[in-house]
This record gives sequence, C-alpha cells and structure tokens, in this order.
Amino acid sequence: LRLPQLRHACHCLLFAPLHVTSEVLNSITQGAKTYGIAKSFHALQEERRERAERSVLISCSPKVSEKKLLKFLSQHGNVSNCFFYQSYGVYAVVEFASKNSIVGLHESTSLPSMHHEVSVPFKSRLLTLKTNGSADQSGGSNSVEFHPQVAMPINELLQQLSAEESVDQQLSRLTSALQLTEENVSLRFLVCSLVKDVAAAFFPKCTVHPFGSSVNGFGKLGCDLDMFLDLDAASGNPKRKPSGFYLEYQMKREASERAVTQSVLSVVAESVEQFSPGCVGIQKILNARCPLVRFSHQPSGFQCDLTANNRVAMKSSELLYVFSSVDERVRGLVLAVRYWARVHGVTSSVAGAWISNFSLTALILFFLQTRGPPILPTVDQLRDLADQSDQCCVEGNDCTIVSDLSRIRLQTNTESLERLLQEFFEFYAAFPFNHMSINLRKGKEQNKPESTPLHIQNPFEATLNVSKNVNAAQLDRFVALCRESAWFLQQEAGSKPATVPTGGSAQAWGLAALFLPSLAQAAGVKGRRKKKREPASERVKSLLQSISTSHSSQ
Ligand code: CTP
Ligand code: MG
Repeated sequence: LRLPQLRHACHCLLFAPLHVTSEVLNSITQGAKTYGIAKSFHALQEERRERAERSVLISCSPKVSEKKLLKFLSQHGNVSNCFFYQSYGVYAVVEFASKNSIVGLHESTSLPSMHHEVSVPFKSRLLTLKTNGSADQSGGSNSVEFHPQVAMPINELLQQLSAEESVDQQLSRLTSALQLTEENVSLRFLVCSLVKDVAAAFFPKCTVHPFGSSVNGFGKLGCDLDMFLDLDAASGNPKRKPSGFYLEYQMKREASERAVTQSVLSVVAESVEQFSPGCVGIQKILNARCPLVRFSHQPSGFQCDLTANNRVAMKSSELLYVFSSVDERVRGLVLAVRYWARVHGVTSSVAGAWISNFSLTALILFFLQTRGPPILPTVDQLRDLADQSDQCCVEGNDCTIVSDLSRIRLQTNTESLERLLQEFFEFYAAFPFNHMSINLRKGKEQNKPESTPLHIQNPFEATLNVSKNVNAAQLDRFVALCRESAWFLQQEAGSKPATVPTGGSAQAWGLAALFLPSLAQAAGVKGRRKKKREPASERVKSLLQSISTSHSSQ
C-alpha cells in the first residue's frame, strides 16, 4: 500500500461505522492493487468511471458527523466508500455499492424552497444535507478528517523538504506531497460523471472521460481537469449490415467533423451553464484548433476544459500513464522537474510562448529513454509489444501501444533519483536544440524538420510539433536554468550539510534550495515576472493567440 492509501485504510478500519460493509475494505485493498502497474489504463479508467457513476457529492455542515451521515444514507443502500474535503464549504464524496441506491436517494430528495427566486429543476448528484427540527448534523468532538485537494503552500513544502536528510529523501517527500491522491482522482471522475449527466440529456449513451494529468500519472494536486466528451458510444452503428429493409436515422448535416464538434460543445456548454449547479464562468473557446469549453466547478475547485473528438490526446494520456507505471522514479523525476519549472517561471498555468507541462514531460521521458540502460522503452517498442486487441488507429495515425504492462521488461538501471535529476539538468544544459529534435518513438534525437526553437515530435502524429508555441527566449531561459541547476546540485553533496539546524524552521538546502528564486537570479534569468498590465484589447488578443497555438499541435 502507498502511504495515502495506508492512511486511508487505517482510518477506515478505525472509524468504519458498522453498516459500512466488508466490501469497503475489499475495495480499499483492490484500489491499492490497481494503483500499481498490474491494471491496464482502460481497465483502471473503466473501474473508476463506474465507481463515479454510483457516487454523489454532498455539501454538509463543517461540523458534520460521518457516522450520522452514513447512517442516514444507508437507508438507500450500502455505502462502499466515503471521504470529506473542504473547498468552498465542506463536501462529502459518497460512493454507494449499487447505482440503484441513487435512484432511491433522488426520490427522497426535496427541491430547495426559495423565497425570491425559482430553482431550475435539473436533479443532479450534487446535493445539500439539510436538517429539520431537532436533528443535528454535528458529531461533537468527533470531527471528520478532511482530505486535502490542493498542494500545500510552497513555504510549508520547503520547510518539510529541508527537514529531510538527503536529496533522495527530499525527492520522495516531494512526490508524496504533490501527487494526486486516490480521493482526488475519484473526485475528478465524479465531476466528469456529473458533466456527463448534462450531456446525456442530448446523447444518452455518451461518456465523459478525464484525460491529461488527471489520469496520466503525473498530475499534481490542483492541476486542471481535462475532459473528453465521447459521443462514439452514443452514435455507434449496428455491427452487422442488415439485408433487405433497414432503417436509418434522419440527421442534421454539417460541413465538417469540426463543425459538428463545435455545435455539440456549444449546446453542452449552454446546458452546463443553465442547468448544472456548481459550474460557473463558462467560456466557449470553439475557434481554437481543438475547440473546448472552459469552466470552474466550484464544489471541487477544479478548472475544467471540456473537449470532444480529441481521441489522440486520450491516447497520449494512456502513453504517459504507461511510462509513469514502468518505474516509480519516472513520476518522482517528472513531479520534481515540473515543480522546479513552475517556481522559476519556465512553465505557467496560462498558455503562451513558454514550455507547456506536456512538452516538459516529453523532454523528461526522452531523457529517461536515453539512459544506459534505458529506464523507459521507446514508443516503437511499446507498439511492438502490443497484441491484436491493442490495435488502434485514430484519424489515420497508428496509436497502438501495449496495454498489458507486465510485458514491458527492461534491463535493470539502478541510478538514484538524485543522480537522474542532476543528469537531466546536464543533459538539457548541453542539448543541441538548434538542429536536433526530440523523438520519443525512436528514443533518439534526429535532425529538426523545421526551424522552430524547440522541436518535439508528437508521438502519435509525426508531422506535428508538440512545442511549436515555444519561442527562443523561453527555450534559452530553460537551458540557462538547467545549467545553473546542474552546477548547483554538483556543489550540494547529496546530503544535509552539518551546519543546517535540525528542527524548528530549517534552512533551505538541496532540493528546497533548488526551488528558491535566488537560483534563477544566479542563472542570470529573471524569475516569475509580474508583467505590466497591457491595455485590455492587447490582453484579449494575446490570450486568443496563445489558446489557438496551445491547441494547434494536438
Ligand atoms: N496535449 C497534446 N499536445 C499538446 C498539448 C496537450 O497532445 N501540444 C494533450 C496531452 O495528452 C496532454 C493533454 O492534452 O496530457 C492535456 O493538456 P494540458 O492540460 O496542457 O497538459 P497536462 O498534461 O494535463 O498538464 P497540466 O497539469 O499542466 O494540466
Ligand atoms: Mg491538464
């Protein structure tokens, strides 16, 4: 069991109310097993999607008693999992053992009584726990445990890192502090499932899948929630062509697949805006190369990007998941480098001419493919290991990769994470970016096919450059920071200097010092810049430009 799961399992053992069945414990153990490398991406996604379908999200009083809530809900069936978190208020994520329980729950749920307004009668699975008469939600001194859904503030993290004894220990502490928890991933699937309910009003068999960092193994607490609205199940044709008479649907026609995607997303966006409680700030960004709808889901705090017809991105999430499952050092290195890049302004939460997290991850994965012996296989090797059932072609691109992770066998590489971090910085401090391109399919650099500053071939769409948006200045900053970081880590001898006081507020050293702004200053590049505000028209123009470039290489 990983630490968060162990904590959760212990919590459930200690605090499990009597009516939570033994299935809870089974599911906890199974959940832990599935988090390892045994499960294929699809099996794991499907299991999580199905669990989300039988879950509800309930806003509660901050003093809510878990025992009382579960007792109340158990009248509708067994609860197989439940956890609490604090966002804008306190919420409980409740997973029933059977989907039928939700039917009963809905039947007994009241419409809100309002004095000056009228509610839109869309009955979602976002509910509020109310009390009547003498009933009391509070559990006295037995307050519930809140599971964090965002990463801890940087100062706190730096203190924790500085209290560790070696850089390797710091790296493992960083991974456990940043990586998505089992609960956070469940909440992501639940939010997708709630959005699916809205789209299902038009397309009853549609599904909404999370993709990107929510599922690729490299997500950090607080990362955005990329969603893919899949209408294929809804519009699938019968397998056999009938002989004789058959019926065909009459359907509206559009000029292109893109136009269909735009109109579907537009209608879903309207519905989410009008009907879906908790979804606010809806923006339709339909003219980007990959049209999307952006909104905030307030109860979870997730920033959501809903796309449709984006199957290749789903496949690249699977590819990254495979890479993250091959060796646990991969996630450790990716999370550390991504954090380093974010604190020094190499990456940003807004799209622009800087390196995106996806491009940065590709650079790290490529570096791991080039180790001797390699820590990661090439994409071609993953294709060669695939069997018939893994065959996958999307829009003419061969996206086949092996799904059975136990087939991936590599020679043992024993390099420590600290060493890999150091070598990563050295590798890119000296990489010939001016004439070479990164090729994850072959695990080899190759001559650049075009003159963009940074060229990373899209692993599934060979003609596209994942990092087309990156300008020369941003690439130079990355290289300068790599140089400075490599030099800095060489000076730090890998373990805590004797002069650093233990306990109290430890002085930043090792990995913690690598995240301080002084590193960027030493590298001669400015840290995170606070730009002077341009006129509104300029800001809108550059936002639109950055959105279209960021999606132009998908
Ligand atoms: N993607 C892509 N090509 C790009 C950008 C993105 O194929 N040029 C796909 C990748 O599958 C990526 C997903 O879209 O994982 C989501 O993109 P984004 O949200 O930008 O990246 P994440 O990997 O989700 O990282 P972050 O934590 O920054 O959201
Ligand atoms: Mg994302």
